Amino acid sequence: MKLSHRITHITGGGSDGWDVFYKARRMIADGVPVTELTIGEHDIGTSRAILDAMHDAAVGGHTGYAMVPGTDALRKTVAARIAARTGVPTTADNILITPGGQAALYAAHTAVCNPGDTAAYIDPYYATYPGTIRGASAVPKAIVTSPDTAFQPTADALKAQTKGAKSLLVNTPNNPTGVVYSAATLHAIADACIANDLWLISDEVYDTQVWEGAHISPRSLPGMADRTLVVGSMSKSHAMTGSRVGWICGPADAIEQIVNLATHTTYGVAGFIQDAADFALNQGDAVEEEVAAPFRRRQALTMQALAGQNVIRAVPAQGAMYVMLDIRATGMSGEGFANALLDAEQIAVMPGESFGQAAAGHIRVAMTIADDRYVDALSRLIAFAAMKAA
Ligand SMILES: Cc1ncc(COP(=O)(O)O)c(C=O)c1O
Repeated sequence: MKLSHRITHITGGGSDGWDVFYKARRMIADGVPVTELTIGEHDIGTSRAILDAMHDAAVGGHTGYAMVPGTDALRKTVAARIAARTGVPTTADNILITPGGQAALYAAHTAVCNPGDTAAYIDPYYATYPGTIRGASAVPKAIVTSPDTAFQPTADALKAQTKGAKSLLVNTPNNPTGVVYSAATLHAIADACIANDLWLISDEVYDTQVWEGAHISPRSLPGMADRTLVVGSMSKSHAMTGSRVGWICGPADAIEQIVNLATHTTYGVAGFIQDAADFALNQGDAVEEEVAAPFRRRQALTMQALAGQNVIRAVPAQGAMYVMLDIRATGMSGEGFANALLDAEQIAVMPGESFGQAAAGHIRVAMTIADDRYVDALSRLIAFAAMKAA
């Protein structure tokens, strides 16, 4: 029996660029002690206090169907957090709770794109973006950035390449580059959205991981609140990746319509998970800083490790749990380097090519292991690059 074009074309055919990752997983299964610097998973689990809140909520009876848009308490808490951080008036009516940021990304594209509409996104990109767009029956269009502008899109490219599109998806702090978009870039994004009448889908799941400067939500820029859907998540801010809880924040009338999509797809998020998320958010900024602290520390350790050599160049990054390293001086592709590093040193990193064409000749390192092991892996990686470049 034939399946729909929508489902059979989600991956876009061909390799998904994750071969090195799968190879590392196979080696680990075979007992090889691989140092894993591939995916965005914290080396700490969800905190005991949050798990206790989850347990108490479940034992207390919050195990039935929860309200589809989210519990009133969590929607209000998320709205208050966004209002306080961005200055944009935000109420529970602006919030839909979703099973993670990924479900929010899909719901947002489904909400704003008709089948066949063009949905733009920035390359390098988080691996699921093109597939999410295709899954929503829209047509992905990459705006390819350059390492020369630290992978920030330029005003000219944004305006020219989003003509005729329905939406633009941006992500700051950025996965995979760790770059935090400058105020100038964000204004250029807003200008392009207004000039070309686009919806902006703003993926802000790393908003608590900023090492330098500040996170600016583009929803707060003039004229943007009515055309922006913000994607948020508890995954990175509270080490709750497995709990699958996130949100969309947008205009109340849009949220009301997207609730209809939730009713007919996910039917909401487990009540006890939402109670735990509400508890977690009410613990305040200190808890978020505690979860982010290891990555802040390891970013500094990365810069220290790279000082005094000139084979590997770090993309100047200000946030998120990754560093993107330019290894072009070795003469290798990101994929070639990552494969050779895995074979020679049993260190697994992601090739830049896994995240689009802009990051070719780069590797992404997830700073997700204990500091001492991280520093050791980095020094072996640097020595390996020097050997290849010689
Ligand atoms: C940029 C970006 N957006 C969205 C997500 C999805 O996060 P989740 O579905 O766990 O909230 C991730 C996960 O790694 C990500 O890196």
